[in-house]
Amino acid sequence: MNEPPRDEAHYFAALSDPQANVCAAEKQEALQLVQEKVAVCTSCGELARHRHKTVFGVGHPAPEVCFIGEAPGADEDRQGEPFVGRAGQLLDRILEACNWTRQDVYIANILKCRPPRNRNPLPSEISNCTPFLLKQLQIIQPRALCALGAVAAQTLLACEQSIGKLRGRWHRWQGLPLLCTYHPAYLLRNPAQKRAVWEDMQMLMRFVKDN
Ligand code: URA
Ligand code: URA
Repeated sequence: MNEPPRDEAHYFAALSDPQANVCAAEKQEALQLVQEKVAVCTSCGELARHRHKTVFGVGHPAPEVCFIGEAPGADEDRQGEPFVGRAGQLLDRILEACNWTRQDVYIANILKCRPPRNRNPLPSEISNCTPFLLKQLQIIQPRALCALGAVAAQTLLACEQSIGKLRGRWHRWQGLPLLCTYHPAYLLRNPAQKRAVWEDMQMLMRFVKDN
């Protein structure tokens, strides 16, 4: 396994950060302001018309690790929280195996609204919505990112390589160490890949422990 990338950007504000030393309560407030903007966003007309709730993100306001999925599904759209359906329950078990809870990490998606019939996000929807994710990351300042599935990995890395090729090694996103792994929904259909995800999670845990 290659080593996680280390450079000053990891130790000091990886994202150009006006609020490097703000406390958790201030971060929570800043997140709340962004969440309020998301809740009334109508940039993607089709998504705004079909949604029940926007799905902003949950977890620690200053986490070690931020997990990034694709977009809300039906359960998330109803509840307004990411990864609460079947894939989310599997994500919870993966976190538990790492000795993390949903409160220890931060969980967000590339899109804050559910695409109708769970179709893939359109490029226009991704570009409309990623500024919100960027804001979230600037506020929470995670030490590492973990992209769940091809859409998150390819969006963050601006590439078209398969998730099978991208997983298992460290990348960088705007200076931050980024690991990619299979999406838990994919694992539900392909349980044989759980071993690969577990290897990825061990890399992530080792990074958190060593840094
Ligand atoms: N799949 C995702 O990518 N995100 C969710 O929040 C739920 C399912
Ligand atoms: N395709 C995806 O979109 N995600 C995976 O995790 C695997 C295959």
